[in-house]
Amino acid sequence: MQRIICLVIIITFFCGRLAAQPVYKDSGAPLEERVSDLLRRMTLEEKIMQLNQWTYGRNDNVNNHEKAERQVDPTIGSVIYRSTSPALRNELQRRAMEETRLGIPILFGFDVIHGYRTIFPIPLAQSCAWDAELVREGCRVAATEAYLTGIDWTFSPMVDVARDARWGRVAEGYGEDPYLNAVLGTAAVEGYQGDDLSQPYNIAACLKHYVGYSLSEGGRDYHYTDISGQTLWETMLPPFEAGVAAGAATVMSSFNDISGIPGSANRYTLTEILKEHWGFDGFVVSDWGSVEQLVNQGVAADRREAAMKAFMAGVEMDMVDNAYKDHLGELVSEGLVPVGNIDEAVRRILRVKFRLGLFDDPYTPELPEEDRYLLPEFRRAAERAAAESMVLLKNERSVLPLTDPAARIALIGPMADERVHLMGSWEGKGLADDVRSILDGMLSEFGPDRIMTARGCGFDGDDTSGFDEAVRIAAGADVAVLCLGEMEHWSGENGTRSTLALPDVQERLAAEIHRTGTPVVLLLSSGRPVELARLESLADAILVVWQPGTCGGVAVAGILSGRTNPSGKLSITFPLHTGQIPIYYNMRNPARHNQGLYQDIPSAPLYEFGHGLSYTTFEYGEIFLPETVFSRNETITAEIEVRNTGARDGKEAVLWFVTDPVASISRPAKELKHFEKQDIPAGESRTYRFEIVPERDLSFVDARGGRHLENGEFILTVGNRKIKFELTD
Ligand code: BGC
Repeated sequence: MQRIICLVIIITFFCGRLAAQPVYKDSGAPLEERVSDLLRRMTLEEKIMQLNQWTYGRNDNVNNHEKAERQVDPTIGSVIYRSTSPALRNELQRRAMEETRLGIPILFGFDVIHGYRTIFPIPLAQSCAWDAELVREGCRVAATEAYLTGIDWTFSPMVDVARDARWGRVAEGYGEDPYLNAVLGTAAVEGYQGDDLSQPYNIAACLKHYVGYSLSEGGRDYHYTDISGQTLWETMLPPFEAGVAAGAATVMSSFNDISGIPGSANRYTLTEILKEHWGFDGFVVSDWGSVEQLVNQGVAADRREAAMKAFMAGVEMDMVDNAYKDHLGELVSEGLVPVGNIDEAVRRILRVKFRLGLFDDPYTPELPEEDRYLLPEFRRAAERAAAESMVLLKNERSVLPLTDPAARIALIGPMADERVHLMGSWEGKGLADDVRSILDGMLSEFGPDRIMTARGCGFDGDDTSGFDEAVRIAAGADVAVLCLGEMEHWSGENGTRSTLALPDVQERLAAEIHRTGTPVVLLLSSGRPVELARLESLADAILVVWQPGTCGGVAVAGILSGRTNPSGKLSITFPLHTGQIPIYYNMRNPARHNQGLYQDIPSAPLYEFGHGLSYTTFEYGEIFLPETVFSRNETITAEIEVRNTGARDGKEAVLWFVTDPVASISRPAKELKHFEKQDIPAGESRTYRFEIVPERDLSFVDARGGRHLENGEFILTVGNRKIKFELTD
């Protein structure tokens, strides 16, 4: 009897608890149990709403924001949040938490690509710094500003390995090498997400665009991509695999048609590789409209079929086009989409919301703007990133740095006093007014008495009426600093260009300035490599400043004065002519040496991947290996000593390449496998090490993802040094 009474008490207690607090609301319950409990309570309609992401209209007019935001259905899975108001975001969240049946929080997303309000250099620039810590730090700053606005999720990093710079989105990624994209993509994921997504200031990352988008034919955005299994596995997938291993919460499916099956309808890449092979347990969001665009791509007759194909391939969330909202219900009732698949998709989305802690702590602090954005340490980090990412391509007769305290400087060109273009594309909520232009930086670095300035010409067009004034001040100066480049919308999404050359008017201005005989320092600000076939000989020094962000002007001036010693190296090849594309360092060897060259232009690039000068000089010692024959199970430690032989302290990034001269599948001429950047004071040496793990660093994949490690000879290359070794059983 006593036992029965006890049982009744226990049952009553638990029922009471259940009634008071469902498991999914219990922050102490295991995450998967919370998800299952919530799923059990949801109607089909509520589930389908979780699979949709809205934005408040495609109208970016600031006056429309709040009104439209308030129309958002609070049962929606996610919203692209364009306002900068944490209070408005909390208000919307409160409606989701308090005015809906189950109180499921909304996931607020935004494109925080290279900063939110404090804008960092574009990712392509950041990759030229060869410093994962710097990328991590930039993403931490971006995550902090975004979090304090109420953004839970960024659509970044982009890890599309880009080898055709006509494609404007080359600006958004980490250059042409898969390993570099993998390392920096991992750092970005870690920077955004921190150790624990539920903690303040951490936001969910999104690896994009999965997969192969950068191979768009002719560099034309949104176009077809012809991707062999070998290229897919060897070049396109590795950065995504690394990002998934680093715990990226989400992945975005791409626009491009991958050899007949678009990225957003591709079951092989989305389900078999990503989820079954790599074990990714977050969710996939489509790219903007990439579900309904399956109709344009010719694999779906209408939006309904597009919804079915994308969903069944493995896209869990439909970004903005409402195809899921409009059609998944009927597809389920007709038996074309199993309810089990809906549950699995919702489970993945809820899992990310629980991981973010949104059920337990759905609101963001409402601090005043000055406590959220552009804090001094954020600006310092952005300036450091800008300075480290700039690449000195040429410096004849040591024109730079400008150390003569009496030298008068003519600052010329359309980029000299620009702000918005220094931010580049996807500038988040960066404001032109926050940006320090090159002129601002130069005035404070050198003092107003030493700077004369003239625009000379616009970015394009044929107005040369400013040439005379520019020539006049150049002729009267000791050095002309010529600021040329691209407007911010010339790269980025839909920023395709047929040539990497700057418009004629800018090249003509350069020729006029060169003719004055005054030494010319060319500053190039762009979102892609620039064709320098005609410009190169007109400049004594060339500094690529990219689109350096909020503090770009200060960083540029620091390099020109010598306050900062440049240490960037190219993460992407600078072709001599656009017609050389595709051209990238890790091409495969041709069938005939010294044949198949262009008849009308040189075949070599102007500046290679890895090129970048310093104000000091570095000498590489011999590569040291403990032996020359190794077994497959050994870890091999290679070392090289690098000496700073100049008079200034400097930083040197050492890049380690491996060549596998004979293999069952032909290998690229060389492949980057490791890199490290160190400070080396003048006159001192530093040792750089590379721990070669054969299975990881000497193996290769085949067209189906099978990994092979083959015995034989390998060549290790570092700078101008090479060493051979052999791998045996
Ligand atoms: C872009 C994505 C971006 C998304 C949301 C798309 O057009 O391709 O990179 O994240 O829009 O803004």
